[in-house]
Amino acid sequence: MSDDQTLALSGRQPATLFVISAPSLSRGALTRLEAAARAATPGPVRLIRLEGTEPSLVDALDAMRAEGHRRIRVQPFGVPFPEGLLTWLPGVMADWRTRGDNADTTLEMGPDPATDAGSLAAQATAALSRRARSVEATSPRLGKPGWADPPDFEFHLLVCTGPRCAVHGAASFTHLLKEELKEAGVFDRCLTTRTGCIYPCNRGPILALYPHGHWYRLPDRAAVRRFVADVLMAGGTADDLRFHTARAARTTPSQAPETTP
Ligand code: FES
Repeated sequence: MSDDQTLALSGRQPATLFVISAPSLSRGALTRLEAAARAATPGPVRLIRLEGTEPSLVDALDAMRAEGHRRIRVQPFGVPFPEGLLTWLPGVMADWRTRGDNADTTLEMGPDPATDAGSLAAQATAALSRRARSVEATSPRLGKPGWADPPDFEFHLLVCTGPRCAVHGAASFTHLLKEELKEAGVFDRCLTTRTGCIYPCNRGPILALYPHGHWYRLPDRAAVRRFVADVLMAGGTADDLRFHTARAARTTPSQAPETTP
């Protein structure tokens, strides 16, 4: 008998937190995935997306512990699951156990789904068993007409919603930022783009402001509000919030490399 079967029979089946890495997955698709995961899994189940504005891994673990679960399996879900996240997840899980009373909760990390050749073969077989749809009646197109026109904006805000910034609160940060931009009346002057990882993950939540080339860490509403007022409205640089300036913005015209005609 396997460990899981033994646990199920003894009533100690761990709760399962499925984690997926799919930055552009729609809400509907996410809901369907969670329903499928629930149907296939004994015991309590949650599913989160590691990027974007979903509850972060830390928030989900907090919620499951608050529900009374003291043994939680974190299971990577979906193929391909990024290798970088597979190596990052155990450390975050271990860090979570050092917070508050979380050491009373056992965390387990499930295997990479891509290493199970049998399950991959079963997925391929199941996909191929379904009818394919012809595209002969579909109009040829590479995009919609409106996709040729850049929006008119003054500030380009690159807001990281990658998995590591998500652990540092990127989800609530993006909501706060949107609220503060609207409240200050500068929302329409900004092109706000959610990005994947742009590298300084440990500083999250972060944004990069262009064309200025300044990068900011904005950990709470007060910081977001000051960024909007001092930088976007008043034209300042809020140096205590800024942690980096891009090389291009540091280079004065006299330092710029000469171009050959
Ligand atoms: S996840 Fe945001 S900088 Fe890496």
